[in-house]
Amino acid sequence: MLTLLKKIKNKIKSTIDGHWVEGRQRSGYSRFGLLPRKLTQFLGLDIVILRMPEGVELPGHKDRVPIRRQIWGYSKHMRLNIVIKQPKKGGQLWVLQDMNVNIPDAEPDFQYIYPENRVYWFVPSHIEHGVTKVEEGTRYVLSFGWCCR
Ligand SMILES: [Fe+2]
Repeated sequence: MLTLLKKIKNKIKSTIDGHWVEGRQRSGYSRFGLLPRKLTQFLGLDIVILRMPEGVELPGHKDRVPIRRQIWGYSKHMRLNIVIKQPKKGGQLWVLQDMNVNIPDAEPDFQYIYPENRVYWFVPSHIEHGVTKVEEGTRYVLSFGWCCR
């Protein structure tokens, strides 16, 4: 019975991405993949939990579409974030948004937006974004990312 449980546990471990790894921007946050790595690569879809401990800040950046996806015509990286646990202080997502994006021929008017909602969808390949420093507590986010044309 114990052997069977060990086998099941190992199967689950090997099926999901399985462990905390350093985040892409190397700023101190980590990510835990919930899908098998090969499935993530095949579908171009990732489902991860992001963890930002106290003292960590995510500087402004854009997330480019991987080259292997660009070859197939994908140009946008989309992301749906669901904040599971907001830290007691700090750890606020911000996006730098052009308020004139829908006005033809208008000069860009970039403003920092701090979404209050726990659920937030955006295009990180096209919009600069970051997270303010986590001053107290830990921030956890369930994040779905995919590429599209
Ligand atoms: Fe990002």
